[in-house]
Amino acid sequence: MDQLAVLICFTVFTFTTADDAVNTKAFPKDFKFGVATASYQIEGGWNEDGKGENIWDHLVHNGPFIIKHNDTGDIACDSYHKYKEDVRMLKDLGVNHYRFSISWSRLLPTGFANKVNPAGVQYYKSLIKELKANGIEPFVTLYHWDMPQPIQELGGFLNDNFVDWFGDYAELCFKHFGDEVSNWLTFNEPISTCQQGYGNAVKAPLIHSPGIGEYICGKNMMLAHARAWHIYNDKFRSKQKGSVGFVVDSLWYEPSSNKTEDVHAAEMKRQFVWGLYINPLINGDHSTMVKEQIARRSKQQGFKRSRLPEFTEKEQKYLKGTLDVIGLNHYSTVLVSAQEKPDPSAMGFFVDCEANEWKSDDWEKSGSDWLRVVPWGIRKLLKWIKDNFNNHKIIITENGYSDREPKLLKDDRRIHYIKSYLSNIRDAMEKDGVNVIGYTLWSLMDNFEWTSGYTEKLGIHHVDFNSSNRTRTKKSSAEFYKKVIATRCLAEKCTA
Ligand SMILES: *[C@@H]1O[C@H](CO)[C@@H](O)[C@H](O)[C@H]1NC(C)=O
Ligand SMILES: *[C@@H]1O[C@H](CO)[C@@H](O)[C@H](O)[C@H]1NC(C)=O
Ligand SMILES: *[C@@H]1O[C@H](CO)[C@@H](O)[C@H](O)[C@H]1NC(C)=O
Ligand SMILES: *[C@@H]1O[C@H](CO)[C@@H](O)[C@H](O)[C@H]1NC(C)=O
Repeated sequence: MDQLAVLICFTVFTFTTADDAVNTKAFPKDFKFGVATASYQIEGGWNEDGKGENIWDHLVHNGPFIIKHNDTGDIACDSYHKYKEDVRMLKDLGVNHYRFSISWSRLLPTGFANKVNPAGVQYYKSLIKELKANGIEPFVTLYHWDMPQPIQELGGFLNDNFVDWFGDYAELCFKHFGDEVSNWLTFNEPISTCQQGYGNAVKAPLIHSPGIGEYICGKNMMLAHARAWHIYNDKFRSKQKGSVGFVVDSLWYEPSSNKTEDVHAAEMKRQFVWGLYINPLINGDHSTMVKEQIARRSKQQGFKRSRLPEFTEKEQKYLKGTLDVIGLNHYSTVLVSAQEKPDPSAMGFFVDCEANEWKSDDWEKSGSDWLRVVPWGIRKLLKWIKDNFNNHKIIITENGYSDREPKLLKDDRRIHYIKSYLSNIRDAMEKDGVNVIGYTLWSLMDNFEWTSGYTEKLGIHHVDFNSSNRTRTKKSSAEFYKKVIATRCLAEKCTA
């Protein structure tokens, strides 16, 4: 009896302490809950039915062999064949939306719009049809890192004609799928794409051009986004009535002290993300802080003009107001301080800002060096976005937790992560008035995690990559998320 009383007491106690910390206000009825994936990370079928080669196919097959265990996405989760199973998992979770990406080279094997692959069109039509039949709204990313190889061979993002080529591809997607798809996202993660792909060369296409190539990449990405937005606006919007967004990857940059220079350094870091990539789409140009900083350093280094290419007045007009919704991928936070003696000759996104960043040892670790659990960071970031971009509409397009266990089904730390981040998002909405319309968890299932291969896992379903069946198994986090979606509530009970 006593033992039982203690047990009950203990259960109630742990329950309430866990719940006390979370926001107990229900999410609004129209708030969208979803999960995300990306084509190269899940589809497989890399050369099936006429698909062309993209830069990740090229890298994993031809080297340099920088992928853990030489893993490839040749089969990945085999979603090219198993998409119906994926939709069954989505249906079971009860999600409102599913964010996936279209493989450009599955649709256009050479990258160019003169030759459409009918099997590619069919695949995405079937997936979209299956989603709609199950009441799930498709959120479609047009570019999630898988540049067609022939376009890369012409320079990829560094070729100014990229804007035309991407526009043609986007138009084809609107034409074929736009009657069924209302939510478009043009590009996923400019920092991963441009800084890691064209700056410090840690992701495909591994171009090493810090401080030059990476900024040209950004410029053409912005213009290509605007091209897609204008095509949609001019030819499709009145009939299809959808929206075109862009997905930015941003940490929260917390000043390491209240010293003026550290507060300034943290703001500079934020401007290097938001001022380079979102400001042009909302206000027509890079933010003044970033422009001046890169221009000053370029001049000191003997360049005739800023390494950050300027937009012409015509381009500024073309860019301004082309962002229907901000897609935010956010996973973690860093501390920032001003560099005491910035290296005047250094070039690149990560040094032009003249700031140091690091992670606090007090923050909980995950399976990835880059991902510490800092739930309050997302609330501060959302408030900052609201204040800087006139309360623009935001959808969280990615957020999630990694581990490196071969098969961790009881993933309590992931549950803790999701719950505490969602709670801070709810706080930002309720207490700070931030206009967040939805949340998209990364990811539906474990998948090809780029250079980490299959060792880094962020899924709420486990996938057995040793089985030809690619058997999917639910993790505890899937059960947890399902309950959150069904109740719209993070606690045992919520207020409306
Ligand atoms: C990956 O493949 C390359 C080329 O076949 C080989 O040289 C290298 O040793 C392999 N690495 C691993 C980790 O298996
Ligand atoms: C900065 O000042 C605020 C307000 O006084 C305080 O809450 C915060 O802890 C300080 N931050 C640091 C890093 O010292
Ligand atoms: C395949 O199985 C081995 C041995 O059980 C395991 O170490 C490895 O992580 C598995 N590989 C994948 C990709 O799941
Ligand atoms: C194949 O996968 C499905 C669902 O993921 C599962 O129900 C089935 O048992 C698996 N079959 C084998 C032979 O592993």
